Amino acid sequence: MSPVLSSVTDELRFLFDGARNVAVLTGAGISAESGVPTFRGGDTEMWTWRGRPITELSSAELIATDPKLVWEWVDYRRGLLATLQPNPGHHALAEWEHRFDAFTLITQNIDDLHRAAGSLNVLELHGNIWRARCLRCASTFDARESPIVENPPRCFACGGPARPDVVLFGELLPEGVFERAEQAAAHADLFFVIGTSAVVYPAAGLPIIAKQRGAKLIEVNPEMTDISFMADMTVLGKAGEVLPRFLEERG
Ligand code: APR
Repeated sequence: MSPVLSSVTDELRFLFDGARNVAVLTGAGISAESGVPTFRGGDTEMWTWRGRPITELSSAELIATDPKLVWEWVDYRRGLLATLQPNPGHHALAEWEHRFDAFTLITQNIDDLHRAAGSLNVLELHGNIWRARCLRCASTFDARESPIVENPPRCFACGGPARPDVVLFGELLPEGVFERAEQAAAHADLFFVIGTSAVVYPAAGLPIIAKQRGAKLIEVNPEMTDISFMADMTVLGKAGEVLPRFLEERG
């Protein structure tokens, strides 16, 4: 079996059909075909907005010093995302969920497109741009108005100022979520790494855990990545084209 494939082979489908416990890690690449620019890979350069790199705009430091500016940046990004729809890759994963005894979708994306496609068991490692978290009482709540009406938005429970419920550069992942992702990786017999450059930790450690615990590792990405060397197979292709192939009628 060649470790680098240009399409979904019968052997790969056989592996898919025989799996019982599946976990998937997605990154920005799965949303690329919906029109969300990726952070790395291809010709994409790291984004800037109002002359500042996103690593500075989405940072723990800026939320502590200038939360209004962070909200303005988030508001801008939400405006870009508001009209976008899930693509066939997201829809395929929502279908996959019903195929296996256990299925966990772990995403680094904050764009909410997996849920919009109908996925239910989604672990959002980096939070969700359409949620807010109260800085006073820590309640999290849906905050979907775009553009936002008040900056910062107010907590619906206590009226305190809220921040975006996303993980900023320099922050830890939300409590419990990564542990659940680790569990899913450790128990998977098949682990997919889809549309991520797999360079941002701790998320990039999940395929390593899965592999060490005996899972087959399948990567879907138009480019080779830092994780390709340990994948059992890399399917070189776009998520929106490759993932629906697993659901096609078997000949
Ligand atoms: N299908 C699948 N993969 C794709 C597609 C596509 N249509 N288009 C691009 N890709 C791949 C690229 O080749 C690249 O490997 O998606 C990957 C995107 O990588 P990144 O931009 O680094 O995104 P990601 O891995 O999700 O970044 C992780 O870094 O900046 C932080 O918090 C941010 O969650 C993000 C994290």
